[in-house]
Amino acid sequence: MITLDVQIEEPVTFVIFGATGDLTRRKLIPALYTLFKEGALTSGFSIIGFARRDYTDETFCQLMEDALREHCRIPVDDPSLKAFCAHLSYHRGDISDPTAYTRLMQRFNDEALPPNRLFYLSITPDLIETATHNLCESGLITPAGGSPWSRTVVEKPFGHDLNSAQNLNRILLEHIDESQIYRIDHYLGKETVQNILSFRFANTIFEPVFNRTYVDHIQITAAETVGMESGRGAFYDKTGALRDMVANHLFQLLCLVTMEPPDGLEAKSIRNEKMKILRALALASSTADHPSVCCGQYAGTETAPAFREEERVAPDSNTETFIALRMEINNWRWAGVPVYLRTGKNLAKKTTEISVQFKTPPLSLFQHVACKGDLCDLTGVEPNTLIFRIQPDEGIFLQVSAKRPSMQLVVESVDMDFSYSGKWDKELPEAYERLLLDALRGDSTLFTRSDEVEAEWEVIDTIFSGTKECSPKPYPSGSWGPMEADALLINPSNGWKNE
Ligand code: BG6
Repeated sequence: MITLDVQIEEPVTFVIFGATGDLTRRKLIPALYTLFKEGALTSGFSIIGFARRDYTDETFCQLMEDALREHCRIPVDDPSLKAFCAHLSYHRGDISDPTAYTRLMQRFNDEALPPNRLFYLSITPDLIETATHNLCESGLITPAGGSPWSRTVVEKPFGHDLNSAQNLNRILLEHIDESQIYRIDHYLGKETVQNILSFRFANTIFEPVFNRTYVDHIQITAAETVGMESGRGAFYDKTGALRDMVANHLFQLLCLVTMEPPDGLEAKSIRNEKMKILRALALASSTADHPSVCCGQYAGTETAPAFREEERVAPDSNTETFIALRMEINNWRWAGVPVYLRTGKNLAKKTTEISVQFKTPPLSLFQHVACKGDLCDLTGVEPNTLIFRIQPDEGIFLQVSAKRPSMQLVVESVDMDFSYSGKWDKELPEAYERLLLDALRGDSTLFTRSDEVEAEWEVIDTIFSGTKECSPKPYPSGSWGPMEADALLINPSNGWKNE
């Protein structure tokens, strides 16, 4: 385990709206427990679960104890579990009932709760307006920059198109200052994602070649082996792969790997640079041979259901469970470099990876050998590829050519590896641990600003309007998606990475 070595300086009350939901059990409570065990919360804290169900403090605490035993990545030992649970309590209330908020405000006075407050809105977007209005009216939201402070964390989805995202931002900003809003994109909390900027800007050797002169193309893949487990059918049928994964996680990865060096590491500098990429980002034009969008839907197998057979999915659903895109970044650094994005459910392997493929050398002096097992062939020159493996087997790998030991002068592709597990015998922190810690200490760098969210949706809207209807091609569960996705690649001999 990596020691966090940080502490929240001021005591805080953490209020979770939607406290009986899946996210609280699987992610939020385990993350808070880990922070507690790491000593990050020693200045004092209280966790209040706000929900409608008729629970008592005891039933809520018991549920959270069970959740910790099931989902915590670190060992849950009894003395610290009991000590942690002593900080938990339940607040029964309906999000739309103003008295539930005035009662909560009263508790701050009566129970001498830590006055700084962090509200975690793990609720559907249609409830955000009511929740923020009631929080504000009851005096629970304090003025920006004041003491005690209040911050509000908002879970995705932040709308489903530009219009709804603008509306959501308007509602939030009517009640809460931007500096007090923390929009979570959990990919930004992943250790390896944060390493993209360190790797690019803490080394001198990569940055000079990260541009259109040297890079052939970039591929970003987030493949999942899961389908509609945990009853997500109804949500996903309305959302689809483009809105669920590309509009936020994949665009954020794309920004980090292509943005200009920021002038500092504070939130504003990094977000400003990401914004420039989002403004320059567009779907590449389709040609007769190379479309720029391919949608797919899993067709199932003998043992696994098709998407249309999943619970709470329409039997004639046209929602894409897979999408591949060819994008372009219209700026001086990246003009003409295709950026391929691909994500899907029920694919062959769980993997999230960014691969930056460089151009081949201008002159091919050597013969190149490519081997699969014991079988080797002479092939064309293999390009260098830099791979950021986000998950699993986290690491950064550079494929280079090296002379193969033999009496001939032939070269073969070899890997220069940096793997987290090889370097550090420590488990990586969970994304939510890092993000909750940052929200508690008031660092918004790894959260998304309102203009970023809107810029992301602006691009997404053009993708759907451009292709009118994305009629998904069927693909078998456990495959790499529809074969039609291959046609997106301008140079098909490169192939999709990972396959
Ligand atoms: C969520 C999506 O934001 O990210 C899910 O809503 C997806 O559909 C999940 O499964 C993937 O996250 P991770 O961390 O498992 O890659």
